[in-house]
Amino acid sequence: MIQRTLVLLKPDTVRRGLIGEILGRYEAKGLTLVAMDLRAIDEAQADAHYAEHVERDFYPPLRAFVTSGPLVAMVLEGDEAIEVVRAVNGATDGRVAAPGSVRGDLSLSNRENLVHGSDSVQSAAREIDLWFPDLT
Ligand code: RTP
Ligand code: MG
Repeated sequence: MIQRTLVLLKPDTVRRGLIGEILGRYEAKGLTLVAMDLRAIDEAQADAHYAEHVERDFYPPLRAFVTSGPLVAMVLEGDEAIEVVRAVNGATDGRVAAPGSVRGDLSLSNRENLVHGSDSVQSAAREIDLWFPDLT
């Protein structure tokens, strides 16, 4: 099924000069870019995006991280795009993510793990509406 998913290239990606490297992997996989924007977010946007995590112990440093500099938000489209992007991204913790994945190849951290991808059809719909409200 053709799906859309919300992807973030987090501030570590921008700081490390890895936007092209990571975007290239999604393009090479065959996903279509529907929308893309470089932006800095405030704490309210971070809280809305990570609504499921705001009460967790790890959330305060996560919020500090995702608001620490510009990030790239994008919507990607393709067959089973939600699961495909999660596989391209790899496991959350870069220290254990499989080589070949974005995190497995490029991250050594459980927090500064370069990317975000929606984790379900419901999350994708909510996140796309949050980040790109003008997209139908
Ligand atoms: P994401 O939402 O960013 O795509 O990552 P994910 O689904 O693989 O991981 P999730 O469980 O949703 O966690 C969201 C982000 O929070 C940071 N995190 N830190 N124990 C920790 O310190 C910890 N656990 C998670 C990561 O940046 C993770 O991507
Ligand atoms: Mg998640």
